[in-house]
This record gives sequence, C-alpha cells and structure tokens, in this order.
Amino acid sequence: MAVVSIEFSEEKAWIDRLTDDFRTLLAGSRSTDRPFHVALSGGSTPTPLYRHWATQEFPWERIDWWIGDERWVPLTDPRSNEAMIRGSLGIGLGGRLRLRSWHRAEDPEDAANLYDKALREELGSPPVFDLILLGIGEDGHTASLFPGSPALDERAAYAVPNPAPGGGPLRLTLTYPCLNAARSVWFLVAGRAKKEIVQRVLSSDKALPAARIEAADQRLYWVGGR
Ligand code: 6PG
Repeated sequence: MAVVSIEFSEEKAWIDRLTDDFRTLLAGSRSTDRPFHVALSGGSTPTPLYRHWATQEFPWERIDWWIGDERWVPLTDPRSNEAMIRGSLGIGLGGRLRLRSWHRAEDPEDAANLYDKALREELGSPPVFDLILLGIGEDGHTASLFPGSPALDERAAYAVPNPAPGGGPLRLTLTYPCLNAARSVWFLVAGRAKKEIVQRVLSSDKALPAARIEAADQRLYWVGGR
C-alpha cells in the first residue's frame, strides 16, 4: 500500500495540519456508535503534538486511546511511553483521558496477552483501529518492530513482547496483523537525519519494518527541516 507523504519545513505547520486532519477524521466517524479508537506512538517526535492536543476541544469522551508499543519499565521511568503520554496529552485532562495501559500484569507475557485480549474484545478480530500513530527509527523500525526481531513474523497475536536491539528494556508491541487492519496509519517523523529512511519507506523498501505495513490509508507527516 502506498504511503502519502506530507512534508513541512517547521514544526508549527506540522502540528496544525495534524490537528486539522485529526479533527476531520473524528468528524467523519460521528455516525458510528463505538468509541473512536486511536493508538498513540512513543518516542520523542510526538510530544509537542500531544501537548498541543491536550489544549484542544476534542470530544474526549468519544475517544479511547491505546499505546502502540511500550518499554517494560516502571511507569515512573521516563523511558515509558505511557509516562510520556500522561505528561503531555494527559496534562490538564485528568480522568477524561481514557488511556489503555500495557502495565496490567506482573510479567510481560501476561501483559501482552491482556492487551491482545482487550483488543479482541473492544475492536474485534482483527482489531480495527480508527487511527494508529507511529514513529520511524533510523534503522527503519516502527512501534517496537525492529529489523530481524521475532515479532516481525507474528501472524496470530495482536500484541507481543519483543526484544530491543542493543540490550535496552524489553518492549511490548502491536504486531502486523493489528497494524495492517487499521483504517488509517499516520507516521510522524522529524529531522533531516531521517531523510534517507523516509525515502526508503516511501519507495516501499520491504527490508524496513515500517515499509511492511499495509493499512488502507497511510500517510507520513515529515518535518524535514528540524
Ligand atoms: C518508541 C517507539 C519507536 C519510535 C521511533 C521514533 O521509541 O517508543 O517504539 O518506534 O516511535 O523510534 O522515535 P523518535 O520519535 O524519538 O525519533
């Protein structure tokens, strides 16, 4: 599936466009009676966007937020994506932010199984997200799907633990069967250092985990100038 690229030279324009496009997507889904399900990305790129969204008059009560991947670290650890999301999108929203945590079990296998179960119960099988936000690493990883890692070959589970290269904390991640079923996938990418990897994703270089997602509507919002 082709990825439509939308490029910006500065962050404010990138945030404004993403906010407008998000509002349009929400408005278009008004007729359905289920919540609007969004999976958020981690990493550093989306933080200013999430801070901006926290100030917006979105229909918060209609939106269920999930997290595309997580590090198996305590929630007090700044490397946790949930901590980043609560400290940005969650600011000022308090209990209005309905965010599905990965941290609901004592061990990572159980935590992934619980996420998988919740996805099946609330979004169906396959789970159909209205929107999944993703980042792209310089090695072409997305969510916690790293080149050569076991989760790339997962065909049954929608959420699994997956090792990170270089010995970082174990990850928990959504898998291709889940990502590919989404209505929309938006990649959020910033920085000139990502230029080459962005070009390779746009040219569908299947060696890259990010280029192997096959969702119906795929866009890449790139702040190239940062
Ligand atoms: C994470 C995500 C990862 C991230 C990319 C891009 O770090 O939590 O697993 O996929 O989105 O590595 O990260 P940056 O936005 O920090 O460049």
